[in-house]
Amino acid sequence: MTTYTLRSASPAKTRADVVIVGVSKDGKGPTIALGGEDVAAAYGRKFKPLLSSLGFTGRAGETAKLPTSGTINAPLLLLVGLGDAKKLTPAAVRRAAGVAARAVTNAASVAVALPADSPELVRAVTEGYLLGGYTFTDYKRDTRPESDKAGEVVVLSSIARKQEATAQFERAQLFVEAQLATRQWVNLPANDLNPPSFADQVVARHAELTKGRGAPKIGITVWDEKALEADGCGGILGVGGGSATPPRMVKLTWEPEGATQHVALVGKGITYDSGGYSIKPAASMVSMKEDMAGAASVIEALFLIARLGLPVKVTAWAPMAENMISGAAMRPGDVLTVRGGTTVEVTNTDAEGRLILADALVMAAEEKPDVIVDIATLTGHMVVALGDKVAGLLGTDEAVEQVEAAAKTAGEAMWHMPIPEEMSERITSSKVADLAQHDAVRWGGGLFAGAFLREFTDGLPWAHLDIAGPGFNTGGAHGYTSPGGTGFGVATMVEFVAARAEAASEDTAPADA
Ligand code: BES
Ligand code: MN
Ligand code: ZN
Repeated sequence: MTTYTLRSASPAKTRADVVIVGVSKDGKGPTIALGGEDVAAAYGRKFKPLLSSLGFTGRAGETAKLPTSGTINAPLLLLVGLGDAKKLTPAAVRRAAGVAARAVTNAASVAVALPADSPELVRAVTEGYLLGGYTFTDYKRDTRPESDKAGEVVVLSSIARKQEATAQFERAQLFVEAQLATRQWVNLPANDLNPPSFADQVVARHAELTKGRGAPKIGITVWDEKALEADGCGGILGVGGGSATPPRMVKLTWEPEGATQHVALVGKGITYDSGGYSIKPAASMVSMKEDMAGAASVIEALFLIARLGLPVKVTAWAPMAENMISGAAMRPGDVLTVRGGTTVEVTNTDAEGRLILADALVMAAEEKPDVIVDIATLTGHMVVALGDKVAGLLGTDEAVEQVEAAAKTAGEAMWHMPIPEEMSERITSSKVADLAQHDAVRWGGGLFAGAFLREFTDGLPWAHLDIAGPGFNTGGAHGYTSPGGTGFGVATMVEFVAARAEAASEDTAPADA
């Protein structure tokens, strides 16, 4: 177990095995960043030549370790590059803190002295350091023993005693817990996470979080395949039909007393996507355990919202299925009837996400929430359009604007994409059913998917997040992002709900006399 504390102290005097300071670059070369001044002062005139003999430039991602030989109290100094001094944003600090966390080895105690003189920066340092230190080792024989990990992490900040700083420090740790739990779900391989076991584990985590006095009250409902059948969820059943493990749907409800608004979150939970009969090429299939990232993120977002006690009713809907091939699998050409009676012609079994989301969106919309946000690793088209670090954001104007604002606070990159008029024609082009699930036109597939999902939102305010790119990191670690699941979207959804709570309290606040 690691303990985290926020303290206002000089990094030069702090006793820890490692002290981390930032170095940014300005016109004159590398310069010590805010928070590290005392360390630079301890070295005095030797500091600049030291940096240049290390070849340290202050570029983002750079690290160097140096024994301090008594110059400061800590025996080891870790320098981390922050990049351009003029662009010292919370995002840059968060990334550098993540890089630093990964560079620390074999230290029982760590003091982090990165720029943290505002509550936002305290949050950025804390989140970056904690997220960056995550590794998925569940299946490794040789892992660092727990005793090797730092037992104590101290975040140094000149405003450590201010209430806003401690509040952000605590909040950051709760956000990180939710994001790391999401990464953990996503990283579990599909042979150990199928729809029934996923649902069971959500039930177990729910029990844990709601146990004891003072714990939040969260409702949970699980649909098995019979209940899905009874409720007319033909999309989820169609997609899950080919798997040896039957589909599920999990609904979580957070309904605090006095809530005046209701936000519905819907997340795609395909525990494995082989593509089905429209089978994926071998290389595209390898990472497809990631295809439940949307479901994991709405589940963890709801748990976090409840732990924060946000005064908004929130429901999280997680349809879960495994897209496989067998004699019972759906075929291209099949017609499925989703909840509410809409028929859909399946023309590509690999466009399965929209089919399970259709049922879940209809169920969510039946409760008439004020807004629906769905999140899904939905289309490769969106990755082609925006790259693998930016999510596509589609939907109705106001909901999109609010999600954009929340993403900015959360530090998650997304870009507003349109649903062009022509899509209405394309999604209704089936000759046999109400809707075509997919069409032969290759262009704008991510926008087609958005238009398709919109059909199931009952005209309610709605935003759709396509996280096929940023939901999973197929490369190596960078910044605070580890390989595999990223937890992308959790922070944005929670900030979205928090902002709505804030706006509602302003609406109802008594006017000043
Ligand atoms: N799960 C995939 C989308 C995906 C691709 C997620 C890459 C993460 C990384 C989705 O179910 C899918 O297969 N989409 C198809 C849609 C097409 C058949 C319309 C795609 O992207 O090719
Ligand atoms: Mn697919
Ligand atoms: Zn998929």
